[in-house]
Amino acid sequence: LFLLLCIFVVLALAGCGNVKSTNVGNLKFENPLKIPELLEPTLEPDGTKHFTLTMMQGTTEFLEGKTTDTWGINGSYLGPTVRVSRGDKVSFDVINQLGETSTLHWHGMMLPPEMDGGPHQMIEAGKTWSPHWKIDQPSATTWFHPHLHGNTAQHVYRGLAGMFIIDDEDSKKLPSNYGVDDIPLIVQDKLFTSDGQFSEDDDTTFGILGDEILVNGTHDPFLEVTSSQVRFRLLNGSNARAYTFGFTDERSFQLVANDAGLLQEPVTLERFMLSPGERAEIVVSFEPGEETILHSYKNGTGIASGEFDLLKIVAASELSESKQIEGQLSSVEPIEVPADAKVRQFRLSMDNKINDKSMDMSRIDEVVPAGGKEIWEIRNFGSEHNFHIHDAAFRVLDVNGKEPQEYERGRKDTVFVPHGATVRLAVEFGNYTDLKYPLMYHCHLLKHEDDGMMGQFLLVEPGTESQVPMQLTEVS
Ligand code: C2O
Ligand code: CU
Repeated sequence: LFLLLCIFVVLALAGCGNVKSTNVGNLKFENPLKIPELLEPTLEPDGTKHFTLTMMQGTTEFLEGKTTDTWGINGSYLGPTVRVSRGDKVSFDVINQLGETSTLHWHGMMLPPEMDGGPHQMIEAGKTWSPHWKIDQPSATTWFHPHLHGNTAQHVYRGLAGMFIIDDEDSKKLPSNYGVDDIPLIVQDKLFTSDGQFSEDDDTTFGILGDEILVNGTHDPFLEVTSSQVRFRLLNGSNARAYTFGFTDERSFQLVANDAGLLQEPVTLERFMLSPGERAEIVVSFEPGEETILHSYKNGTGIASGEFDLLKIVAASELSESKQIEGQLSSVEPIEVPADAKVRQFRLSMDNKINDKSMDMSRIDEVVPAGGKEIWEIRNFGSEHNFHIHDAAFRVLDVNGKEPQEYERGRKDTVFVPHGATVRLAVEFGNYTDLKYPLMYHCHLLKHEDDGMMGQFLLVEPGTESQVPMQLTEVS
């Protein structure tokens, strides 16, 4: 035990030693924040909304006078925003022009496992993948990114990611005018080499920890807002870093949604943390002419140790009035599990394994009844991690036996798991069955995921769990 403790301390120190972590006061806020374009669908005869996403290489100027080699979707860095409504049928052509194999995963989407875009739905260079499904889940800010086993960190870091917004009747009560009072904020940290290339130097415990921040692919950004209430959709699209968001004038704001949907009612906050892959929606009020800076505060060691100015926000001298949020937001009942719900336990270890196993594409680790509700208990004996489940939404029941943080309420699909903590989740699974294509659960620190900190589960017809073979015969 003592030896393990020593190893941990050494690793933690090694991790921290590499963490360059401050750009506070270094920014001039010179660049207008880029807003990813809203992707227009074409309509198929049966009303399906059809979108085309092309993964490609390119170059981008983030730093003045320097050109960075990047990857993007329908452009040189990041992708467009996809926006649809609950009940819509959608189809995609995902065209891979990268020159190497990738995948495109819909993080946070409830959908047939074959459409999930995980490690089993590889898109070879030059090929097109055409998934389709019906949007059948509450409004949420979801996102898409590659999930090629062993290469997710690199593909995401180079720029492959985009936001996928789902609307419903509840979400329309909030500011929804995209790019005006409904603003995506994709936050990512980068390490630049002296000639302006992305450094892929990932030798910390956690992977790449950058010292420069991009918001929607904009370095040193500012944003002018023109309404009195603005909804920001924050996505931590970083490989490893966690951010504790707040404003430098200490203003409070309302948290209205988490990863997998709206809260029952807004929570007034001054700070909240997002680890990689997590999302939140906040509504911020502005007075004419005022200025503030969205900031990330230090919060503990490791992935949460950085302090950054992120975005300067300037309110115009005249602001249009936007709707006030009042009353209940989500009409969806909070996730409850039955008293006799199955409990599954997952141990995260120092060597980045889950239940002492590394990811094996041909091994099924868990078999879960489709549409089922279970308790998943995650115990972290390793460094800092988080935990994400595909095709599921959960409510955090408790962290070390105590209520989760205020900002961890509501529906989520990814949760931070501090070192030494036990996190219990009430999980609701998608109502789809598939014996051929497994779904993933994993740490969303992308280096850990690539190292094998991931397991596979099948969603099956309830009652047939014990008949399911735990090996996949044909692994695609
Ligand atoms: Cu954001 Cu399994 O992924
Ligand atoms: Cu991890």
